[in-house]
Amino acid sequence: MARVFNFSAGPAVLPEPVLEQAREAIWDFAGSGMGILELSHRSSWFDEVITSAEARLARLLKLDQDQQVLFLHGGASTQFFTLPMNFLRGGRATYLDTGIWSAKAIKEAKRYGTVDVPFSSKPERYDRVPQPGELPALPEGTKYLHYTTNNTVAGTQFHWTPEVSGDAFLVGDASSDILSWPIEGSKYGMLYAGVQKNMGPSGMAFAVLRKSLLERAEADLPTMLAYKTHADNSSLFNTPNTFAIYIVERVAAWLEENGGLEGMGQRNKAQADKLYAAIDGGAMWTGLAKPESRSWMNITFTTGDADLDKAFVKEATAAGLNGLKGHRSVGGLRASIYNAMPDAGVDALISFMGEFERTRG
Ligand SMILES: Cc1ncc(COP(=O)(O)O)c(C=O)c1O
Repeated sequence: MARVFNFSAGPAVLPEPVLEQAREAIWDFAGSGMGILELSHRSSWFDEVITSAEARLARLLKLDQDQQVLFLHGGASTQFFTLPMNFLRGGRATYLDTGIWSAKAIKEAKRYGTVDVPFSSKPERYDRVPQPGELPALPEGTKYLHYTTNNTVAGTQFHWTPEVSGDAFLVGDASSDILSWPIEGSKYGMLYAGVQKNMGPSGMAFAVLRKSLLERAEADLPTMLAYKTHADNSSLFNTPNTFAIYIVERVAAWLEENGGLEGMGQRNKAQADKLYAAIDGGAMWTGLAKPESRSWMNITFTTGDADLDKAFVKEATAAGLNGLKGHRSVGGLRASIYNAMPDAGVDALISFMGEFERTRG
């Protein structure tokens, strides 16, 4: 069967060369006579995979020597509670409330300490993120500032990096824009992401952790929930998701061989600009995010008529454009155009929108 253009929010489109390599590797990994799914996580073959994944990600994200790449269980949602469990410890932290994933992180953090929320766009249906200069100084004694770098559901994104002061460190949930544009990874105490959008298959979290922060972590935690366990054992304390790590390594290689994050950022912005121009230029469409906060990854829009949105999704699916339904909490339409979305997919969507407007408008 022919492949369709997959606009799903995640799990999501992956680079075709990576899928082709994975097909081979499932049968025979690097001449080992065993498939990648069958290889021991303690084998020299897998050691090469995980070491290469760590090195490539450190290069792509411009990490410094004090930062460690980790592969963790339980997806991004598990970090919502393991982060405060390790670092909040009855103290106070600042969280920015820019979408349903931020709200979930806030809910979990409140179990472990005081949570200050100086910004929330919830009353405006999360249609924007704060702009530079809009946030107040952090309260005295703040342990960390947590924010969602890209809001998958609302379709908003920080195109800048918040500052922290004093002993506070910066934490980003970058689940839906990790590796999509050049960032200064060294600004983060912790950066994490569920890997199922821009990095690989579902069921694993990727994290960058500043090792020196581990001195501040709660010591008495269940072993698997202490970041120190995973840092001390290079993500191999127990059996990690070996297949996901293999795919992440191949995706990182694909990025390094195709212009790095600079090239990726340019391609992503060009695709997003083109799609927003089609939304703004057509009479039928309204973008759901405020222009200055618009995401380059998740483009949210609507016809303003729920039945028409539904018809659009149905007809687009029949035309080979999959996954365009908005999140169930927002409705409308959403085109997720992660790193692996080809230009041809965006062009096909724009041309389909034009035709739909011409015949249904
Ligand atoms: C921004 C953001 N954070 C967290 C999550 C949750 O990720 P996981 O399903 O890996 O727990 C998602 C999932 O879509 C997300 O978009």
